[in-house]
Amino acid sequence: MFFTRLIILTLISPSWGCDYNGMIYYDLLPPVFGDYLVEFSVKTYSETQMVEILSEIPVLCTRQFNFSHPVDLLLIADCGVEKIEAEFLLNTKYQPDSLSVTGNSIRTIRRHTFRNLATMFYTLRDNLIESIENEAFANLSNAKFVDLAENRITVFECNCFVNVPNLIQLILEDNKINSLKAKCFKFLQNNGAVLVLRYNEISKIDPQVFDEMPAQNVSIHLEFNAFENLPVRILRKHAFVVFNLTGNQIRHLQFEIVENFSVGFLTVDANLDPNLVQDLKFFAKVVLYNRAQKMSPNTVFYLIFLTFCIFY
Ligand SMILES: *[C@@H]1O[C@H](CO)[C@@H](O)[C@H](O)[C@H]1NC(C)=O
Ligand SMILES: *[C@@H]1O[C@H](CO)[C@@H](O)[C@H](O)[C@H]1NC(C)=O
Ligand SMILES: *[C@@H]1O[C@H](CO)[C@@H](O)[C@H](O)[C@H]1NC(C)=O
Ligand SMILES: *[C@@H]1O[C@H](CO)[C@@H](O)[C@H](O)[C@H]1NC(C)=O
Ligand SMILES: *[C@@H]1O[C@H](CO)[C@@H](O)[C@H](O)[C@H]1NC(C)=O
Repeated sequence: MFFTRLIILTLISPSWGCDYNGMIYYDLLPPVFGDYLVEFSVKTYSETQMVEILSEIPVLCTRQFNFSHPVDLLLIADCGVEKIEAEFLLNTKYQPDSLSVTGNSIRTIRRHTFRNLATMFYTLRDNLIESIENEAFANLSNAKFVDLAENRITVFECNCFVNVPNLIQLILEDNKINSLKAKCFKFLQNNGAVLVLRYNEISKIDPQVFDEMPAQNVSIHLEFNAFENLPVRILRKHAFVVFNLTGNQIRHLQFEIVENFSVGFLTVDANLDPNLVQDLKFFAKVVLYNRAQKMSPNTVFYLIFLTFCIFY
C-alpha cells in the first residue's frame, strides 16, 4: 500500500494544466475488487454510490471523472487540489449529485468552473478561496446548496452566480467579506432561501443590496460582523423570515414607515443603547402599521419576536 502511494506521487506532474497523465488513487463505496483502485481516470460500476479520491491531485480535470454509472457523491478531501479546470465535469454523462472538495488549497474559483451541471450540492468549505470570478457558477438549474464557508473570500463578487433558480442555501460563513454591494443577491430566486454570512467582517452594506432579489421569505444570517447600523432602505419590498444581527455593534436601526417590508424574527443584542431601544419600538410600530394596512396579501407578517441576546 505504501509502495503504491509512492509510485503515484512520482507519476503526478507538477504542471498546472490538464495535459498530464497523473494516476489517481481512489476508493469506491460499496467497495469493489478490494481496498482501492489506481487508474488514470476514475472508473465507476453500477453499484457505485461514493467515489473518494485518496491521492494528491493538484488539478481537477474533467477527463479524470467521466463516470460510466450514476454516482451520489464525489469526495475530494485533503488532496492538495490547487485548481479546478474551468467547465469541470461539463458534458460528462453522470455528474455526481453531490460534489465535495474540502481541505484543499484552491485560491480562485474561475469563471465557468461550474456550468450546465446536474449536480445539486456543492461543498467547497475549508479551502483557501480568496476570489470567485464572475459566472463561476452558471446555469446550474439543479443547484440547491452551495457551501463556501471557512475560506478567505474578501470581496463577494455579486455576479459569480448566474441562473441558479433552485438555490435554497448559500453559506458564506467564516470568510473575510467586508462589504456588500447593491443588487448583490438578485440571483436568489427561491422563496424561503437561506443566506448565511455570519463570522465575516462586514461593516458596509449597500442600501440596495436586496434590490431585484426575486426571492421572498428569505432568512439572512449576519451574526458576528462589524455593523454599527443598518441602512434605512435595506428591507424594502421584502418579507424576511429571519434577519439575525446578533454579535454586531448595532447602535441604530432606522426604519421608515414608507418601507414596505416584513420581518419575522429580527434579532439584535441588547446593548441597552437608548437610541436602539427607541428604534426597535419604532420597528414594531412599522410592522404593526404594515399589517393594519394589509399592503399586500402576499406579504407575511410573523409574530414579532425581538430576541435580546446579552453579550458582556
Ligand atoms: C465521456 O465519455 C463518453 C463516452 O463514454 C464520451 O462520449 C464523452 O465525450 C466523454 N465526455 C468528456 C467530457 O470527455
Ligand atoms: C446559460 O444558458 C443560456 C440559455 O440556455 C445561454 O444562452 C447562456 O450562454 C448560458 N451561459 C453559460 C455561462 O453557460
Ligand atoms: C412566505 O411564507 C408564508 C408563511 O409560510 C406563506 O404564506 C407565503 O405564501 C410565503 N410567500 C411567498 C412569496 O412564498
Ligand atoms: C440569531 O443568532 C444567534 C447567534 O448565532 C442565535 O443564538 C439565535 O438563535 C439566532 N436567532 C434566530 C432567530 O435565528
Ligand atoms: C408592497 O409589496 C408588495 C409585494 O412586493 C406589493 O404588491 C405592494 O404593492 C407593495 N405596496 C406598496 C405600498 O409599495
